[in-house]
Amino acid sequence: MANMKAAIIGAGNVGASTALKLAELNIADIVMTDLVEGMPQGKALDMMESAPLSGIDVSITGTNDYKEIAGSDIVVITAGVPRKPGMSRDDLLKINAHIIGEVVDDVLRHAPDAIIIMVTNPLDVMTYLAYQRSGFDKRRVLGMAGVLDSVRFRCFIAMELGVSVKEVSAMVLGGHGDSMVPLPDYSTVSGIPIVELIPKEAIDRMISRTRKAGGEIVALLKTGSAYYAPAAAVAAMAESILLDQKQLLPCCTKLDGEYGLSHVFVGVPVILGKEGVEKVVEVPLSPEDSEKLKQSAEHVKSTMEDLRKLSDTDRAEG
Ligand SMILES: NC(=O)c1ccc[n+]([C@@H]2O[C@H](COP(=O)([O-])OP(=O)(O)OC[C@H]3O[C@@H](n4cnc5c(N)ncnc54)[C@H](O)[C@@H]3O)[C@@H](O)[C@H]2O)c1
Repeated sequence: MANMKAAIIGAGNVGASTALKLAELNIADIVMTDLVEGMPQGKALDMMESAPLSGIDVSITGTNDYKEIAGSDIVVITAGVPRKPGMSRDDLLKINAHIIGEVVDDVLRHAPDAIIIMVTNPLDVMTYLAYQRSGFDKRRVLGMAGVLDSVRFRCFIAMELGVSVKEVSAMVLGGHGDSMVPLPDYSTVSGIPIVELIPKEAIDRMISRTRKAGGEIVALLKTGSAYYAPAAAVAAMAESILLDQKQLLPCCTKLDGEYGLSHVFVGVPVILGKEGVEKVVEVPLSPEDSEKLKQSAEHVKSTMEDLRKLSDTDRAEG
């Protein structure tokens, strides 16, 4: 039987790290594409040459031609530009929206049966754009943010308590960014809620660090942003889909009434299987967390509105 296939669009830091992480799972052949000529081919060849030592037994190819993503079961989109000094939020939104629009057209053309995992920022809005542009069922377009935010929270909890990270589980909902909603009530160490183990001030400190975790890495790296943990998060989502594992993970998905929210893409717990987002799992939230989730969704909605306005201006000018 032919291997499954995963395409990664954008072979930069997150794209290439995701390709390697996924290849090491040995569940799907990998195709990486990028605009830059030779770069995805070079990175793919380098990864293939690690195979005899790393146990990789799938093929990894790099290309500048979208035709090669044909037949992909999953397409991970990491293509985009980072915000540069002097660039406004709207400028970044416009540039990445243009890139994502073109990428999604190519996915439609060459891999119309794939499930799209969006990674490009601003995450929730780019996921919405991919959904709208592709016309795919909402189950087949989801975004990666909550898994990354949750594993960061897990790390900070494990570091605080000096316990194995394996014993820690955590849940972070909401939009990707400052408005995310870490849920201490649903975060545990071997089943014991962290609120029973850690003083409130320390939990608040970890929540704040989780919210700013992306920025903490940017400040240390000076150029570029995080990619090892983001790649691990994408690989976990892809694995659950490709192997139909039905993992319960926080992902950015379209809500139609769940959590009292509609017409918005935002992070909530979902079950991920071969159909994509197979179920949104609703858990009771405290009135305070429920309000925070609502505010986070409002923030995403206002950026969705900004995107619509920018597209209208473009149409009027063009
Ligand atoms: N969702 C998350 O939690 C999360 C985490 C980390 C990074 N990100 C986002 O992921 C994106 C990628 O980050 P990175 O660190 O890999 O950036 P990067 O600059 O290293 O890589 C981006 C790649 O996209 C390529 N690209 C640009 N336009 C393209 C197009 N039209 N077609 C194909 N490729 C194209 C570039 O050539 C580059 O190689 C950014 O938007 C970043 O903000 C999101």
